[in-house]
Amino acid sequence: GSRAGEAGLGKDPLVFAHRGSSAVLPEHTLAAYLRALDEGADGLECDVRLTRDGHLVCVHDRRLDRTSNGRGRVSARTLAELNELDFGSWHPGASSEDAPTDVPADPSRTRLLTLDRLLRAVREAGRPVELLIETKHPTRYGGDVERRLTTLLREHGLLEPRPSDPVRVTVMSFSALAVRRMRVLAPRLSTVLLLEVIPPGLRVGRLPFGAKIAGPGIGLVRARPQLIPALRAAGHQVYVWTVNETNDLDLLLDHGVDGIITDRPALILERLGR
Ligand code: G3P
Ligand code: CA
Repeated sequence: GSRAGEAGLGKDPLVFAHRGSSAVLPEHTLAAYLRALDEGADGLECDVRLTRDGHLVCVHDRRLDRTSNGRGRVSARTLAELNELDFGSWHPGASSEDAPTDVPADPSRTRLLTLDRLLRAVREAGRPVELLIETKHPTRYGGDVERRLTTLLREHGLLEPRPSDPVRVTVMSFSALAVRRMRVLAPRLSTVLLLEVIPPGLRVGRLPFGAKIAGPGIGLVRARPQLIPALRAAGHQVYVWTVNETNDLDLLLDHGVDGIITDRPALILERLGR
């Protein structure tokens, strides 16, 4: 039993691997996602952007510099050009993100990951997986990201999920505009509105544009832990990112969170007694 169970706050939270098991293996690589599934994560989190020729690829930063041996913007390159790069070439100085502890020597394991390939991998897992897809920069592309995502999910049979399907897709964004677009394009999918701060004018009980799930950052929750019960009382689920410390996990369990998004799924699962 976990602390959540003992406290009577309901089910254990779902554990999502943020960019894969990204404390161990280079983020957004297939190797990092397969590792997370091996470790027993309930779901995966992935950022998506468009290439110059309109493919959705799994890359967090606007630029290639931190996580690959390339330079410049992802959106300035074609898929074929990006396929030449090595995403195990890590440059941690470029941001606050920590370097992974284990970079595979075999470069075929650190190639660019397309969302199409990740969707196939999730299917091939043959067990329940919830995939959280975060659309980046919705304003810059004027809705192209959401339209392309809708098309791809339809091709994979994930746009109108059947209850018996073990794979479930949830779309997330910091942009209420992007959440609204997804609600229109894919009304059957759950959406997460990510929150780094409380936007001025937001009534906690009413996430804008029908977002079902609230996604506050751990910094916001540390400052205002009562936000979690307030959101849940208003009928929302709450998924918190990025939770890598066990004392943060304890805080969340005390307040009854629904989902934990972490770079360290193995650590969090162990702490939950799973
Ligand atoms: O899961 C939400 C979280 O990933 C948002 O922040 O910068 O890691 O995409 P970021
Ligand atoms: Ca993200």
